[in-house]
Amino acid sequence: MTNQTLESKRETQEEIWAMFDQIAPRYDLANRLLSFGQDVLWRKNITQAIPNESSYDVLDVATGTADVPLSLVKNKKSIRKVYGIDMSSEMLKVGTRKIAEHSLENKISLSLGDATDIPFPDNRFDVVTIAFGIRNIKDTKKALQEMKRVCKPGGSVIILEFSLPENPLMRKFYLFYFQKVLPVVAGWITGKKDAYRYLNSTVMAFPYGREFSSLLQQAGFIDIKTSTLSWGIASLYQAHIGHSV
Ligand SMILES: C[S@@+](CC[C@H](N)C(=O)[O-])C[C@H]1O[C@@H](n2cnc3c(N)ncnc32)[C@H](O)[C@@H]1O
Repeated sequence: MTNQTLESKRETQEEIWAMFDQIAPRYDLANRLLSFGQDVLWRKNITQAIPNESSYDVLDVATGTADVPLSLVKNKKSIRKVYGIDMSSEMLKVGTRKIAEHSLENKISLSLGDATDIPFPDNRFDVVTIAFGIRNIKDTKKALQEMKRVCKPGGSVIILEFSLPENPLMRKFYLFYFQKVLPVVAGWITGKKDAYRYLNSTVMAFPYGREFSSLLQQAGFIDIKTSTLSWGIASLYQAHIGHSV
């Protein structure tokens, strides 16, 4: 696919899943190198947002190569089990291999599943997480509704996603790296420069900060907290599900 076609058309959800299938074998390597290892620390913020007491069942939506489930079970004793769903079978294959390498099959279970039609019953999980996934899901509202549906009353949803630095100088520097350098280097690593061009364009278009918090509010979440990470390159949103009266 050329840049021209990528810029002139909007990808369908199926094309986005196919893109992840293609980059899956080198996705982790590209993440580590291109974020200078920051992506690991950003995911650790999800772990830190989960309380230590109790025994939690967690659903990780758009789990990809299972980095969030692995970080959760390795760093948090209060996690009973993590279930991960994704629509890219190749990303899940890489994740399944990593889980086996760490002998964590009893703590993490991966399956094919769509964020807009989550294959679990209502009120099933204590915590629902999603890292760098929400902007890749075409129907954001439906995905948020589904995450809320499968979370228990009193439970929480934790969302990690890219955002843009507020500081103008930092933003300029970051955008240069992100738009000009990153797709080229990602192209060398994965052989799929166009996929990264697309992925970067989604960061520019996706709401963040107050705008994203108001989407959470509209979806019915309460007690919404936002924290910015690494000068605002990423943001962590924590939202709760109220007890119905
Ligand atoms: C940028 S990756 C993030 C993967 C992982 N969470 C991480 O932290 O590295 C985005 C993932 O979203 C998945 N995805 C996109 N749309 C989805 C949907 N509707 N349902 C489930 N997964 C989806 C893609 O297949 C891809 O694995």
